[in-house]
Amino acid sequence: MKLFRSGAEASISIEGSTVIKQRLVKEYRHPDLDSRLRLERARREYKVLSKTNVLVPKVLSFDEESCSLVMEFIDGPALVDVLDASCVSVYMPLVARSVRQLHDEGIIHGDLTTSNMLVRGQEIVLIDFGLAQFSSSLEDIAVDLQVIYQSLSGRHPDTGAWDVFIREYAPSSELLQRFSVVRSRGKYKKQY
Ligand SMILES: Nc1ncnc2c1ncn2[C@@H]1O[C@H](COP(=O)(O)OP(=O)(O)OP(=O)(O)O)[C@@H](O)[C@H]1O
Ligand SMILES: [Mg+2]
Repeated sequence: MKLFRSGAEASISIEGSTVIKQRLVKEYRHPDLDSRLRLERARREYKVLSKTNVLVPKVLSFDEESCSLVMEFIDGPALVDVLDASCVSVYMPLVARSVRQLHDEGIIHGDLTTSNMLVRGQEIVLIDFGLAQFSSSLEDIAVDLQVIYQSLSGRHPDTGAWDVFIREYAPSSELLQRFSVVRSRGKYKKQY
């Protein structure tokens, strides 16, 4: 087993063609709160990966005791490392279709950044569902869109990525309206 990456929340190890994601103990949290949060997030991730029809890594097993999830290894870079203006029209429609399908299934990702999208050939695989929720509320969907808006405008400015995304996602006018409310709330917060 090889340690592949140690992120903010989890350590990722590779064993053959599988990945073991183990949620790290956070010393700064009260131990009871920490184990509750780790278990909750690991369970949530397992539930979403098992339920959704969107392209995600196949989940192989989940151990509650150690909060570890075994899933398919996706061999490819994170979108954050490859997305530029030259490939926006290839990848963003795929991202938009997956995110739209996820929302139509009543799943909110919770951390839709381009670090949590892996590129495998001509496919985009969504990962990192520890903050996901089951909800179809307009507000939750609009907030999920706001996270991707911030990720695209912050990490990939001047690529047209957001424009392609939102065109392909095709939000209803109701959702678009809610999104602008959420967006202006974000701007307001930033000033203070
Ligand atoms: N199934 C997978 N196949 C290949 N790589 C993966 C897989 N799952 C996770 N990774 C890699 O490990 C990194 C961290 O995984 P993940 O995003 O699920 O955890 P995290 O706790 O959010 O970590 P971070 O704090 O770094 O975002 C990913 O950005 C990706 O590079
Ligand atoms: Mg992540």
